[in-house]
Amino acid sequence: MTESTPLPAEIVAGLTLEEKAALTSGGTFWTTKGVESAGIPKIMLTDGPHGLRKQRETGDHLGIGDSVPATCFPPAVGLGSSWDVGLVERVGEALGTEAAIENVAVLLGPGLNIKRSPLCGRNFEYVSEDPIVSGEVGAALVRGIQSKGVGASVKHFAANNQENDRMRASSDVDERPLREVYLRGFQRVVEDAQPWTVMCSYNRINGVYASEDPWLLTHVLRDEWGFDGLVVSDWGAVNERVASIAAGMDLEMPSNGGETDAQIIAAVRNGTLAESVVDVATTRIVNLVQKSQAGAGDVAGPLDVDAHHALAREAAGRGIVLLKNERETLPISSTASVAVIGLFAEKPRYQGAGSSKVTPTRLDNARDEIAEYAGQGNSFYAQGYKVSSRDDADSEELRRAAVELAAAKDVAVLFLGLPEAAEAEGYDREHIDLPDDQLALLDAVLGVTPNVVVVLSNGSVVALPFADRVPAIIEAWLLGQAGGGAIADVLYGAVNPSAKLTETIPLRLQDNPSYLNFGGTDGHVRYGEGLFVGYRWYDARDLDVAFPFGHGLSYTTFEYSDAVASVGPNGDVEVRVRITNTGDRAGREVVQIYTSLAESTIQRPVRELKAFASVALDPGETRDVMQVVRRDDLAYWHVTAQRWVVEGGDYTFDIAASSRDLRARATAPMEGDVLSLPLTRQSSLGEAFAHPIAGPIVQKIMAANGPGDAASIMPEDVDMMKMIESMPLGRMAMFPGDDFSTETIDRLIATANAPRAEA
Ligand code: BGC
Repeated sequence: MTESTPLPAEIVAGLTLEEKAALTSGGTFWTTKGVESAGIPKIMLTDGPHGLRKQRETGDHLGIGDSVPATCFPPAVGLGSSWDVGLVERVGEALGTEAAIENVAVLLGPGLNIKRSPLCGRNFEYVSEDPIVSGEVGAALVRGIQSKGVGASVKHFAANNQENDRMRASSDVDERPLREVYLRGFQRVVEDAQPWTVMCSYNRINGVYASEDPWLLTHVLRDEWGFDGLVVSDWGAVNERVASIAAGMDLEMPSNGGETDAQIIAAVRNGTLAESVVDVATTRIVNLVQKSQAGAGDVAGPLDVDAHHALAREAAGRGIVLLKNERETLPISSTASVAVIGLFAEKPRYQGAGSSKVTPTRLDNARDEIAEYAGQGNSFYAQGYKVSSRDDADSEELRRAAVELAAAKDVAVLFLGLPEAAEAEGYDREHIDLPDDQLALLDAVLGVTPNVVVVLSNGSVVALPFADRVPAIIEAWLLGQAGGGAIADVLYGAVNPSAKLTETIPLRLQDNPSYLNFGGTDGHVRYGEGLFVGYRWYDARDLDVAFPFGHGLSYTTFEYSDAVASVGPNGDVEVRVRITNTGDRAGREVVQIYTSLAESTIQRPVRELKAFASVALDPGETRDVMQVVRRDDLAYWHVTAQRWVVEGGDYTFDIAASSRDLRARATAPMEGDVLSLPLTRQSSLGEAFAHPIAGPIVQKIMAANGPGDAASIMPEDVDMMKMIESMPLGRMAMFPGDDFSTETIDRLIATANAPRAEA
């Protein structure tokens, strides 16, 4: 853009209604329409999120087939497990670079939906069960992508937490969990990183399609959070185009051949849609086109395939979670003989099925990469099991050969995981179990050697019934094209694992908070667990889990000490802690801060993550780590007041190595927000008592009336006030023998609510 580039609104003022309507929907599966006479080119928006999926011209009309080769970085499940926003931002930059080289204006990602259930088929594309982790990782990705002059598209907005029936189902969520859990991550990304676009989801929220919800797309997103970019529909998410554009959904994708453009034109002509609404949407589209034009050409090809592969390997290594490591089974010595068992070592599962599936520039496998570390003649491979029934190998024979190999070698590294078809966009899982034959193979191997390392390949959590019987377990998620190398790096200690779980691994699916409410009936999914998503539930119910949220081991150890919390002038809290690497290897620790408020008067999780940092430490090194817990993040959504409120009190800041491994603690007093709700006849007596004006008056009236007969029939220690404090004020007039008439109460309410000069 130059100084002479006209403003978007000026351009839009010169367009006909037909041109404007046309601009607000796609021209092809992946591009917008242009208006040549007005100098508006078409632009391309394409997937995302963990690699570029740009279809070739000859691609199929469903947008699924053949795409140009691009680096397949770890999907969100792996990348997010690094908890390292610096690393994530670098991956974002690489994604932006690849998109820019291919002239892509907007990359469709990151995906920020909360992992409400391990069953969601698309969990591999999402970051966490926690909104702060999702929001921080999402913001870092957006910053990285957009630093290359390419827009990001934060998706799927909102409450799209399952795949089954995703185009119709209504996510029925109460306001507090909606605000505090499901929207909070999106809010953080919008406020911190200003994404160019937000993609609205397919589903309905409390009965209203996300694509036509003015509360979601305009009131919350724009008026409250200050979003000034463009809202694009998920592909095919528009239910009713005129309602959508009126709600604040600017660009319908993909192309529908102009059918719904005609509806917009007709609605403006018959007066049911203001033309100004179309102008606003068109202006946002022209604005997006101008932004993408501004940076066009700044990033030139060719793609540095090697450098991006190396970054993909680094990121993958940082996403591997060491769940368990007894008897120092890991790292493996390069002189040990190793039985590498399991088809995933040779044919890796490295990304999920659906719209995010990238054609990688190359593909590492762990079998070859382990051979590099193990040295000549030290590593041996056996397939162990079949992944597909189309594989005509004999299962018994495969198992027998693998067990024989395991018995003869120093260590058996067993690759287990979910077949690709088990988890995908478009449908959900039915259970969280690994295939039976893989579990049987593991049992058989454990029968011949105790030195077993399990490496898991899965896009969302699986049950680990063997966790007590295996000395070392690595959760390797789906790690992108360089995952094979990264797994070998961790197995042999070239990379010291530092990733942490962004989702709890439960003992059983039945323990999951959404267990009785997942999937829904009659098109409605009741989010009955409310605020208690993920660890918030397991902690509140004091349930044992296989591995808690935030857990992840290292080959070194860390000590936490000297925690202090102090409230700054703007109300944010600075939390300091001293971390020492007490082992003999360099490593990173993800330091997590959880807050709680013991004397809270509202329903709250036991503790909630509010900040985290990934800290690199040499052996013996000590560092003072300072993190900021934002005052805004301590707020809860007050449903009656319809605003965020910080409750006053002494907050606890637990500095932790996982949600269940609290290492140091600090407290700080926070002043609460002043909240004065208007008094009504429906206010309780307790609320009237607590009111600064009404309280003394009510007390006086009650004292004048005395306890009356009631007191004589009550046991002595019954607290009368407790008995009546929830009674609505207006009902006091319904009882005889006191001074509360309807008139007195209404006068009291008027006095209490009268505007007052500030003290
Ligand atoms: C997915 C989006 C994706 C779009 C375009 C939709 O089905 O939900 O995540 O960006 O298709 O491929």
